[in-house]
Amino acid sequence: MTPAELKALVRTVPDFPKSGIQFRDITTLVGHGEGFRASVDWLVERVADSGAQAIAGMEARGFIFGAASASALGLPFIPIRKPGKLPIATIGVDYALEYGADRLEMDPTSVAAGQQVAIVDDLLATGGTACAAAELLRKAGASVPVAAFVIDLPDLGGAKRLEATGVQVRSLMEFE
Ligand code: PRP
Ligand code: ADE
Repeated sequence: MTPAELKALVRTVPDFPKSGIQFRDITTLVGHGEGFRASVDWLVERVADSGAQAIAGMEARGFIFGAASASALGLPFIPIRKPGKLPIATIGVDYALEYGADRLEMDPTSVAAGQQVAIVDDLLATGGTACAAAELLRKAGASVPVAAFVIDLPDLGGAKRLEATGVQVRSLMEFE
C-alpha cells in the first residue's frame, strides 16, 4: 500500500480530547489488516537500517507498533510505561503533552549498557513523549540512533526537537 493509501486509513476526530485538537486516530489504520501490516513493514525497515539492537515503545499506542516491529525483527521490546504500572524500582521523567502533562517510567535493567535502542510510536506531535523516552533510555545506559513514527505533525515541532538531541527522525506520513 502507498503512503497516501495508508494516510487515508487514519481517522481524524475534531475537538478530541479538547476543543481545537484534530485527533489523528490510528484505530482505523490498525483495524485494516493490510494497512497495519504495511505500516509495521515501513517501521521495521527504518529500524533495521539504523542497526538498532532493541525497540522501545511508549504506552499505549506505541506498544501496538513497537511490539509488532520488534517481533518482526526478532529484537527485544522495551515497554516505556505510564506511572505506577511497573512492579520494580523504576526511573522516570515528567513531560508536557499537546493537551496536558504526564510521566514515563521504565525498568532501568531492561537496557544493556551501550545498547542501541530505536524508539517506535504511532505519532509525533510536540516531541515531549519521545524526548522523555529518549532521556529515560539514555539514563538507563542506552543510545538512541533513530525514532520512527507512523504520523508526524510537523507544525508542532517534535521532529526538530528530537533531532536536536541527536536522534534521527523518520515518519511514514504527515498531517498539518
Ligand atoms: C500520544 C501519542 C504519542 C504522544 C505524542 O500518546 O501516542 O505517544 O501522544 O505527543 P507529543 O509528541 O506531544 O508528546 P498519549 O500520551 O495521548 O497516550 P496513549 O498512547 O495512551 O493514547
Ligand atoms: N497525540 C498528541 N497529539 C495528538 C493528535 N493531534 N492526535 C492523536 N494523538 C495525539
